[in-house]
Amino acid sequence: MPDSRTMLPSPPKRIGVAADHGGFESKEYLAGMLREAGYDVVDFGDSQPEPDDDYPDFVVPLALAVARGEVDRGVAICGSGVGACIAANKVPGVRACLIHESFSAHQGVEDDDMNVICLGGRVVANALAWELVRAFLQARFSGAERHRRRLAKISRLEGREAES
Ligand code: RB5
Repeated sequence: MPDSRTMLPSPPKRIGVAADHGGFESKEYLAGMLREAGYDVVDFGDSQPEPDDDYPDFVVPLALAVARGEVDRGVAICGSGVGACIAANKVPGVRACLIHESFSAHQGVEDDDMNVICLGGRVVANALAWELVRAFLQARFSGAERHRRRLAKISRLEGREAES
């Protein structure tokens, strides 16, 4: 729903997080920071550091929740962030990206309406991960016609009408 003062989408409030063993510690850290910052956090697991767990078991439920609007945005973490990103993008309506620097963390939302940020728990240290997540959550889709047009072309690939 747009913010009536700015016509930008409302700020995200309900944030889903998910990680396998490669991202577990990072997920725990980010979930704590998100709660401290006032976000409602929904944790899709893993609930413990299990060395033999599989990222799709946590990332796919998170991605489905994002696609259904049950959470506003998602944070998906595995060792590199690659598997999490591949899995999340299989869910129609999810626009997930592996992010390592702050420009893409906000521009991916502003231009491309990214709704899931993927991080590598073995690549990005906690302080940077939090900076990236904050940039991602503070950014909002511009709604510019050229960006809607591009997103509509992607939605058609998924057999969906453009969302906006
Ligand atoms: C699991 O060891 C590791 O492969 C996984 O966390 C992730 O990096 C996959 O992309």
